Amino acid sequence: MEQSDISQEIKRLVDLMHYYNECYFQKGIAEISDYAYDQLLERLTQLEQAYPHLKRPDSPTEVIGDRPSKGFAVVYHQTPMLSLAKTYSEKEIEQFVVRVKKMLPNATVDFICEPKIDGVALSILYEEGDLVRAVTRGNGQKGDDVTHHVTQCLHLPQKIQGAPCSSFEVRGEAFMSKTVFKALNSRRKAEGEPLWANPRNLAVGTLKTLDVDLVKERQLTFYGYSFYASSYHCATQEAALVLLDRLGFSIAPTYKVCHNVMEIMTYIHYWAQHRKELPVDIDGIVIKVNNLHQQGIVGMTSKSPRWAIAYKYQPEMAYSTLNKVSFQVGRTGAVTPVAHFSPIPLAGTMVRRASLYNADELVRRDLYLGDTIFIEKGGEIIPKVVGVDRTRRNTTSKPIVFIGACPACGTPLHRAPGTVAYYCPNKQQCLPQLKGTLLHFSHRKAMDIGTLGPKTFDALLEAKLVQTAADLYRLRYEAVNSLEGFQALSTQKLLSNIQTSKTKPFDNVLFALGIKHIGETVAKKLAVHFRSMERLKRATEAELLQLPDIGEKIVQSILDYFQDPYQQAILRGLQIAGLQFALPETVDTFLPLSSKNFVISGTFQKFTREELTKLIEQAGGRVLSAMSAKVDYLVAGIKAGPSKLAKAMQWTIPILEENDLIKMIQ
Ligand code: IVH
Repeated sequence: MEQSDISQEIKRLVDLMHYYNECYFQKGIAEISDYAYDQLLERLTQLEQAYPHLKRPDSPTEVIGDRPSKGFAVVYHQTPMLSLAKTYSEKEIEQFVVRVKKMLPNATVDFICEPKIDGVALSILYEEGDLVRAVTRGNGQKGDDVTHHVTQCLHLPQKIQGAPCSSFEVRGEAFMSKTVFKALNSRRKAEGEPLWANPRNLAVGTLKTLDVDLVKERQLTFYGYSFYASSYHCATQEAALVLLDRLGFSIAPTYKVCHNVMEIMTYIHYWAQHRKELPVDIDGIVIKVNNLHQQGIVGMTSKSPRWAIAYKYQPEMAYSTLNKVSFQVGRTGAVTPVAHFSPIPLAGTMVRRASLYNADELVRRDLYLGDTIFIEKGGEIIPKVVGVDRTRRNTTSKPIVFIGACPACGTPLHRAPGTVAYYCPNKQQCLPQLKGTLLHFSHRKAMDIGTLGPKTFDALLEAKLVQTAADLYRLRYEAVNSLEGFQALSTQKLLSNIQTSKTKPFDNVLFALGIKHIGETVAKKLAVHFRSMERLKRATEAELLQLPDIGEKIVQSILDYFQDPYQQAILRGLQIAGLQFALPETVDTFLPLSSKNFVISGTFQKFTREELTKLIEQAGGRVLSAMSAKVDYLVAGIKAGPSKLAKAMQWTIPILEENDLIKMIQ
């Protein structure tokens, strides 16, 4: 990079961070996630270290926070309120432990792990046992005097008796509990007001606002984490927490003294899993040397103590820059807009893409290229674009519009009335649709053709060896073997997997066809009810609608599918190939005569004809009145009809006597 480029980047970073600092410290608005902020800071620090002569005098790397806000008296802290070194890496926690132990040779070093609460750091001063002042951290040197605010919205001991010394300072975090936040938001919802973004911003905003009535409505909590006094010293951080608790302060009850890296990691992992259960949002774990004398030996830098480190959990929400929107064609032809953004780690994985669902959603989000977008991963695995910061939009950037033609084959898109999705109607030639359909067909839960992955389908489609699922069963050894990357063994394996798939039961076949709205469960229901492709194909709308859990959308999709000549041709191909187009007779029921057809003729010794009919039906069979090819057994008694007997002989239908039938049923 040119020097001028570097100096420009440094200026951009400095300006950006000043902007975010102002939003955060002056207005109480977190416009950027902590993670993204830390990334900017890290990049700036790196550049400044590599090019010290380009460092700007107003660099935010020089100050801890920013100036205190207007409207409040400014108070200097007796000792600076430092920041904490932060990391997202477990390795750096290990290195921290090693580093600390090196500085304390021959000593047993214990650590204390505490939740890192996402709120506002406060210093509370007591003199002669009375609360005299509450100050925000501000820039670390001086902060806002928020004594009045704090007494309105925070439950803190006003007068303390039994303290080990009369003057002391308690530091800790003021925050809004999730319950209070939810209650405030549901009230806002009822009043039609826009909702607050998160408890953290609301806590910051509460202590910034000059409107005291507003402050009164908001209940904040304070968890103390440090106790400072000139005339009294606790031996350990744990003892300080115990003391704070005894004096009537709330403390984070989940702290734990750990004796080694293993224990620290276990604590970190445990709360990564369980932090949602806590009444307060935590964004990480603070690991401190427990012994305060040892803390003194390890010391501090100008910004943060060396005896502590904050392990930050990767956020489940983050900001990124929208670089591109692509349009993906799925197997059903539906076109989905996909946002591509600068990679960000979200809840454990690097994320660079997120679905924007459909044209309506795209319009609703009103996205422009280069926008700062807000991505969330919540409990789900699939990331979503949940918002856009319009204030950061570049005036020259262009809006993103939905396309009119298929990005893969150029066919004009259709939008079925009443639906949100645009479809490419070219299902017979549009490559992503063919590929998607084939991938679905060979999926583990469908025909389970293990070796068929996206790459193989690309090769097969490109060589025009396969276009539909039926073509798979016509593949010849030579053709597959001639494809790039296919040797004798892999060719054999692929062909034998395709052959084996013919044994997959009817419900798998039905699911594999990829009929719109027919998932695994619906396929199973249809298979059990209709028992064969033929019967399903002949089913009327009314018949289908009678089935439980099968709605109009599914019914219409089934009817459309079987009427489509293209699908009919594929179905014929699959049937000829020998796929299971019906359930085996005995599968769905354990009744002994299940799906067997009987004709009864003559009179019997033990039972009447009516009784026999009942017996057969109870055992799962059906009684027909006339002989036909569908009949499986003729039950013949005394004076059985001669023509029935003759037909049974002619069609080799077994003739049962009364006792034979009873044995079958038993
Ligand atoms: S100890 C020398 N313990 O995290 C700093 N800080 O960047 C000593 N925080 O503004 C801080 N929970 O307000 C400490 N259990 C905890 C904390 C905690 C949250 C905040 C603190 C500070 C920031 C550090």
